Amino acid sequence: MEFEATERLKALPPYLFVEIDRKKRAAIAAGRDVINLGIGDPDLPTHEFIIERLNQALANQTHHRYPPNEGIARFREAAMRFFTRRYGVQLGPTEFHPLIGSKEGLGHLPLATVNPGRTVLIPEPGYPVYRSAAIFAGGVPYTMPLTESRQWLPDLDAIPSQVARDAALMFLNYPNNPTGACAPLSFYEQAVDFARQNDIIIASDAAYNEMYYDEPPPPSILQVPGAKDVAVELHSCSKTFNMTGWRLGFVAGNSDVVAALARVKANLDSGPFGAIQEAGAAAYDGIERNEIRDQIAAYRRRRDVLCDGLRKLGFQLETPRATFYIWTRVPGGLDSMSAVSRILDEAAVVCVPGTGFGSGGEGYVRFALTVDVARIRTVVARLSEMKW
Ligand code: MLT
Repeated sequence: MEFEATERLKALPPYLFVEIDRKKRAAIAAGRDVINLGIGDPDLPTHEFIIERLNQALANQTHHRYPPNEGIARFREAAMRFFTRRYGVQLGPTEFHPLIGSKEGLGHLPLATVNPGRTVLIPEPGYPVYRSAAIFAGGVPYTMPLTESRQWLPDLDAIPSQVARDAALMFLNYPNNPTGACAPLSFYEQAVDFARQNDIIIASDAAYNEMYYDEPPPPSILQVPGAKDVAVELHSCSKTFNMTGWRLGFVAGNSDVVAALARVKANLDSGPFGAIQEAGAAAYDGIERNEIRDQIAAYRRRRDVLCDGLRKLGFQLETPRATFYIWTRVPGGLDSMSAVSRILDEAAVVCVPGTGFGSGGEGYVRFALTVDVARIRTVVARLSEMKW
């Protein structure tokens, strides 16, 4: 048999981080001392108090069987308590569902909310999963350009009314990957209004909401009165607690959308491992602990060293108020891909081309703060030896 992948798979661009990983491995195999500031995968360890809870939970045989569909009570309660403490928003039992990481929820959400042929509004530059998920569901992506001049917020008034009427789902993501931009609550108010007028569901990806450096902390879209009529928000343990490999997150908000997503999931997966949910409960209960504060302080030091260093070399950038991404224009008018190739070839540093987040990212590259300050200084030193 001659195997051919489906049209929908062929319609996808190559997955960004797989490609970058391939190039990185090739450089390592060639014996280079590669510094990886590519994928946003924290190098800092998962906190001891979370691992301890996992170890205890592993001894509980209940967790070795399927977890309850709606998640284990301890995780649900801890995450919902955190939500009320942090955002002042009360979540009802039907307004919450655990996820095998927020990426899984983002990926499955269009299957629950978008009929084939309906429009999906996608920010660009943006996390590539939004577009892939829309295509998998047979949706038609419509790009909402994010630009520096608008602080990387989409211009909702610029969306043609026919497109808005055809749209079933809009993805938003603040604090933003890749730009590090934050959205004020007033933007969320505008988005909720727009979604209500056009019968659109908002999926707000809040994976970086707890990774912030300045007050006030990033808001939740669910703080907008009436947001639960149109919006769900996706949260993740990955970056907040250095738990990318564990795969744990949750969706909160509109109970119909939560139920529809839960139904997709009930047909396709069996939820996150119960012992990991137990550890997730410890994580959310412990989010105000010093360990988490120290982690943010470590990222802040890295951010400041890299931003200062890049600026001195002629890179134009804003210091991000949140996320562990530095989004910067490339000096010398180079395109993103050429810049990334040169930086890898000449400095053995892995970064991500802006175009990996869509064509709106052309002229930019993204560095993730995934190595310690000493290594970041080495990055700056190596970049300073390049002719820009
Ligand atoms: C990124 O590097 O953009 C993200 O960390 C990738 C992910 O979370 O899947």
